[in-house]
Parts: sequence; C-alpha cells; structure tokens
Amino acid sequence: MKTDYNMMTEQLKAICDGVDYDITNLSNASALIFDSMEDLNWAGFYLVRDGKLLLGPFQGKVACTKIDFGKGVCGTAALKDETQLVKDVHEFPGHIACDSASNSEIVVPMHDANGKVMGVLDIDSPLKGRFDEEDRAGLEGFVKALEEII
Ligand code: SME
Repeated sequence: MKTDYNMMTEQLKAICDGVDYDITNLSNASALIFDSMEDLNWAGFYLVRDGKLLLGPFQGKVACTKIDFGKGVCGTAALKDETQLVKDVHEFPGHIACDSASNSEIVVPMHDANGKVMGVLDIDSPLKGRFDEEDRAGLEGFVKALEEII
C-alpha cells in the first residue's frame, strides 16, 4: 500500500507540537515512519557530530554508530547534500551493510536554520526497488516539516 505522506507529515506536526527536545521528536519521527510505511526493516537518523554522521534515534536492528561524510549511502547523501534513492544497495559502491536484510534504501539530507547539512534520514527495505519518486517527494516534504520543528 502507498504511504499517505500528507497524513504522516500532519501526524508528525501534531506529535511534536509543544515539544522542545530533539531526541524526543526524532524518536517519535522514526517510530511514525516505521509504523506508516510498509516493508521497512530500518528507519532512523544520523546526526552530524564532529564532522561525522553519528547514529541518532531509530527503529530497527542495532546499526553502525559512525559514518564518514562520503561513505556509504548516508555519507554520500550528506556530502552531496542530495537525496540518494538506491534501488539495489548491493550495486551501490561502498554501501555499509548494517542489517543484511536491507536491499534498497532512501536517504534524505536534513538542514539546520542556515541551510547546512545537520544529519540524514535513512530508511531501508528488504525489498529491491521499494522506493520511487513519489517516496522521494513525500519524504523530502516530511524532512522539511521536521527541519522546522527541530
Ligand atoms: N545504509 C547505510 C548505513 C546505515 S544502516 O543502513 C542503518 C549506508 O550505506 O550509508
């Protein structure tokens, strides 16, 4: 079933309303994504700390804690400041396999108030080709709303 991104984004705004803590809001955001989208095995955040991506709130299996800019799908999204939509992670050079169940993924960069990359949203699926342009548009809109919250 397709994800209703408008509803998911409105739910995010409602859940985060009046809450000032990033960990709280990002934790609920990852749970909301994991609950709202079908066929996922991992959904969460990496946040820029000391020039690297550090694991943030997520749903799924234990994951690698630090990723360098330019490494893997997450590091590429952060370095290029560009969403990475990967239909088959096994064909992505340097993909970091945290969960061997992952076969496709989408990673959307997140920005601070000055437009600088401050993290990424990483969503993985056991299905090949799970994500398409509709997911890209929906998730970029979701991240935009999240950027205004945190
Ligand atoms: N898939 C990522 C690594 C993080 S895990 O999937 C949670 C990557 O290659 O950047």
